[in-house]
Amino acid sequence: MQKVIIITGISSGLGKSTAEYLSQKGHIIYGISRKLLEINPKINVLKADVTDPESLKAAIETVLKKEGKIDILINNAGMGISGPIEYSSDEDIKLQMETNFTGIVYLIKCVLPAMRKQREGTIINISSIGGLMALPFQGFYSASKFAIEGLSEALRMELKPFNIKIVVVRPGDFFTGFTSNRKIDPILSDNPYEPQFRKTLSIIETDEKKGLKPEYFARKLARIIEQRNPHFTYIISTAEQKLAVILKILLPEALFSSILGSHYGIK
Ligand SMILES: NC(=O)c1ccc[n+]([C@@H]2O[C@H](COP(=O)([O-])OP(=O)(O)OC[C@H]3O[C@@H](n4cnc5c(N)ncnc54)[C@H](OP(=O)(O)O)[C@@H]3O)[C@@H](O)[C@H]2O)c1
Repeated sequence: MQKVIIITGISSGLGKSTAEYLSQKGHIIYGISRKLLEINPKINVLKADVTDPESLKAAIETVLKKEGKIDILINNAGMGISGPIEYSSDEDIKLQMETNFTGIVYLIKCVLPAMRKQREGTIINISSIGGLMALPFQGFYSASKFAIEGLSEALRMELKPFNIKIVVVRPGDFFTGFTSNRKIDPILSDNPYEPQFRKTLSIIETDEKKGLKPEYFARKLARIIEQRNPHFTYIISTAEQKLAVILKILLPEALFSSILGSHYGIK
């Protein structure tokens, strides 16, 4: 059945592939981007910044005026900062949390009045495997994704009486613009973390560059959307990354932390 779908972050990576695939499947797509893009003409582009609630309000009003409803919101836009927690600038921490977490809150608040009136709707929040296990030198990125996980758990219960579903999707490594868009805090030469940070960051980047293709993500997400009763959470990743999530649950915390740390070159 054709659905009205809003998706953020359609200029690149997972959002772009998903918007294109869902539009090919016949859905009505509204894509939010900070740029007015030259993209598939079937995708309606709305210019908005997820850190600017007024721009989001205007974008949602446009969709409601044209379509009269919103079936699905996919909160996908995001970015990562990287660096030692001690040396991360206040400005970068704010940018990280506002883009990945507060932006989602703003958008959810914009769509809920319409979804409550409809007495149906689905909100899909794109978290990360990094929202289940924190990675070294990605502390604030992980914190932003852990925050999405907590928000989604509470929302799921609050919205049940209104028949609004919450789905959390946790991608593993995908090769997208995410790696080159990562904001790296300037490292001072006397920073005691520097050699370790450089080593770990290079492992993180290598893993991402060897990651899955965004088209795979788009197909998996489309299948989730087709479910009448989707699960609350999904992991979209390689089998190895799914295994890491299981090990995090099963192994003693100190052992898991030491295995994960050693993958990232930390002894
Ligand atoms: N790639 C991975 O390995 C991976 C793994 C786990 C989770 N994820 C998550 O998947 C989501 C998509 O990431 P991606 O890999 O597709 O990265 P990407 O290729 O860098 O795309 C990120 C998208 O987010 C948009 N965006 C960033 N800041 C924005 C803002 N303030 N307002 C509006 N849009 C903004 C960008 O649009 P602009 O054109 O406006 O910059 C871009 O379209 C993110 O939430 C990310 O955390 C990715």
